[in-house]
Amino acid sequence: MGGKVAVVTGASSGIGEATARVLSARGASVVLAARAEEKLGFLAREISAAGGRAVVVKTDVADRESVKGMVERAVGEFGSVDVLVNNAGLGLSGRVAELRPDDMRYVFDVNLLGPLNCVQEALPHMPRGGRIINVSSVVGKRAIPKVGGYCATKFALNALSDALRVEVADRGITVTSVYPGTTRTSFRDNSRRTKSEKRGWRPKGVPPEAVAEKIAGAAEKGGRDVYVTLTDRIFVAGTSLAPGLTDLVLHRFWAKD
Ligand SMILES: NC(=O)c1ccc[n+]([C@@H]2O[C@H](COP(=O)([O-])OP(=O)(O)OC[C@H]3O[C@@H](n4cnc5c(N)ncnc54)[C@H](OP(=O)(O)O)[C@@H]3O)[C@@H](O)[C@H]2O)c1
Repeated sequence: MGGKVAVVTGASSGIGEATARVLSARGASVVLAARAEEKLGFLAREISAAGGRAVVVKTDVADRESVKGMVERAVGEFGSVDVLVNNAGLGLSGRVAELRPDDMRYVFDVNLLGPLNCVQEALPHMPRGGRIINVSSVVGKRAIPKVGGYCATKFALNALSDALRVEVADRGITVTSVYPGTTRTSFRDNSRRTKSEKRGWRPKGVPPEAVAEKIAGAAEKGGRDVYVTLTDRIFVAGTSLAPGLTDLVLHRFWAKD
């Protein structure tokens, strides 16, 4: 990744923070984008102390002007954008019957319009090809109860990724969807909740560094669909092969109060 410039959204926490560290360790100059500027500053200092190059840009991905400013700063500082990691995202829990439209609009603004804003602003600065990596989720392949609204944002993101991949192929730009399963970050605490309902069982999950390694692999080599664990692959393959059986299992073990 030496000489490459990577923009990482949601770099203030969890998967994005770990990804910025790995990309920097592999030689990329990193643009750290999120709203929590102070946290980004700590990370930038850590990266600089380790000999890397990082710039902090306070960014709200849901705000087009903010994203425009972030990309301008990235290009001003480092000259181009070679890798865009659309990682910033937000959960939403609640049964479909109870989801509030305002919450739905907000998670779509962050999880779908956010990546779209970043792609549209970054593309003109990728004339020599590049990599776009969109962080989806295994529940963007098979929706599960109590988080249907969140799942819908990731299904929609996959659709944009699939269309974009074909549209930019001639420009030497690859588009990768990464599908993490449960990852041990602050994601659940940061999620919006429709009401104080007991949440479904959740696997222990992997550390964010495991996802970051996969994202860094995609930043180097491209690739279409990237899973983090074999269990995630089996979940997605099994649920698509046997959707009715999956409904029954989810009803039995997940949908109850
Ligand atoms: N953790 C999991 O189990 C899991 C599983 C599958 C997929 N994912 C996906 O992985 C991605 C990263 O999640 P995580 O687990 O690392 O969660 P996290 O620790 O809560 O981190 C979320 C990041 O997104 C940023 N963000 C949220 N809203 C933003 C906005 N409007 N503008 C800019 N940045 C924003 C946050 O930064 P600020 O608050 O500073 O803006 C933070 O850096 C998300 O897309 C999530 O959907 C997570």
